[in-house]
Amino acid sequence: MKLDFHRNHFLLYNTAFWGFLVLSLIIAVGPAFRAMQTPPTPGLVELTPEEQRGRDVYVREGCSYCHSQQVRPLEMDLPYGRPSAAGDFAYATPQLLGTQRTGPDLANIGNRQPDETWHLLHFYNPRIVVPESVMPAFPWLFHIKDRQEPGDIVVPVPEQYKPAGKVVVATRDVLNLVAYMQALRQPKLDLKALGMAEAAPSGAPAAEAAPRADEEAALGARVYANNCALCHQANGQGLAGIAPSLVGDPVVTAADPTEHIRIVLQGLAGRSIGGQEYPGRMPAFAEVLTDAEIAAVVNHERSSWGNNAPKVTVEDVRRVRGQ
Ligand code: HEC
Ligand code: HEC
Repeated sequence: MKLDFHRNHFLLYNTAFWGFLVLSLIIAVGPAFRAMQTPPTPGLVELTPEEQRGRDVYVREGCSYCHSQQVRPLEMDLPYGRPSAAGDFAYATPQLLGTQRTGPDLANIGNRQPDETWHLLHFYNPRIVVPESVMPAFPWLFHIKDRQEPGDIVVPVPEQYKPAGKVVVATRDVLNLVAYMQALRQPKLDLKALGMAEAAPSGAPAAEAAPRADEEAALGARVYANNCALCHQANGQGLAGIAPSLVGDPVVTAADPTEHIRIVLQGLAGRSIGGQEYPGRMPAFAEVLTDAEIAAVVNHERSSWGNNAPKVTVEDVRRVRGQ
């Protein structure tokens, strides 16, 4: 048989068919099969039925038109979490990676904003908690009632944002959606345990050498913007009913920083601050931030908005963490 593609149609079609098949296997089917074998990232948990229903609401409401769930290894993605790994998606099929980033990436929103009340207010009207937000409101995820009935979860919507004299009650759908937001947590990646990080060469400086002053200031501002400003706001003045003002706050301006550091590590609930009670709670950051990041953000609060309290060191944070 001659290798003549012009005359031998049998040869032409067979070459095309088998060529296509082999290339598909190598380029598409093989890698997909390998990706399916990726073990889940250690510490990753499956969604509960409630969170799964929240995920269905997320799909139905079109949240992924504006939100991605994949952190890229780029500097501009640093606020959203660590770069995503294949194992992060082991249970989340089909993945909701998203392509549009009108809003922030949500891959790690459960760690960045764990507060239920904040989410409920934000879904009822994003402008309540983020004044300059362009995210649409989702009022149909709430009931407007004349009065609270037993079992109702009432959302503390400020008067100017709701019909006068009515109460705003969360539906099952929005509670499931919040549960889903809280479940979107990136497990910590221990690269050393996975054998992927290079061991520090002997004689290298200690891992957490004290950062330069300007680096620390930039780090503190960044940690504050990414982890604290959602509640305490960029100007430190807090949000009525959500989080106290840190401007001139006695804890933030105290000479002894122990209480300030402890609150950031362990969170806080149920304290009356300046005669105000807060229904939500301040989340704990011990597992989310490193000692250097906590020292930097504490110093940011101690030196911003007119506050002028003594600075803390990484050693101070280590000491309080050890207690
Ligand atoms: C038209 C685009 C758009 C849509 C649709 C949208 N969002 Fe947003 N979202 C934004 C923008 C912009 C922000 C940043 C401002 C803010 O926090 O409100 C944001 C912020 C958020 C935040 C806070 C994230 C952070 O890091 O501060 C959460 C959580 C969130 N959206 C969830 C949702 C959910 C859940 C849905 C679907 C029910 C949704 N969004 C629909 C644009 C959108
Ligand atoms: C989910 C909203 C939320 C986030 C995010 C948040 N806080 Fe708070 N914070 C609160 C609430 C609510 C309180 C008051 C708790 C109470 O009343 O017991 C508080 C209290 C505090 C206090 C104590 C004030 C006092 O006088 O006792 C400090 C200090 C503080 N936060 C710092 C921070 C820092 C630093 C971050 C970021 C690393 C942060 N907060 C992130 C909600 C938040």
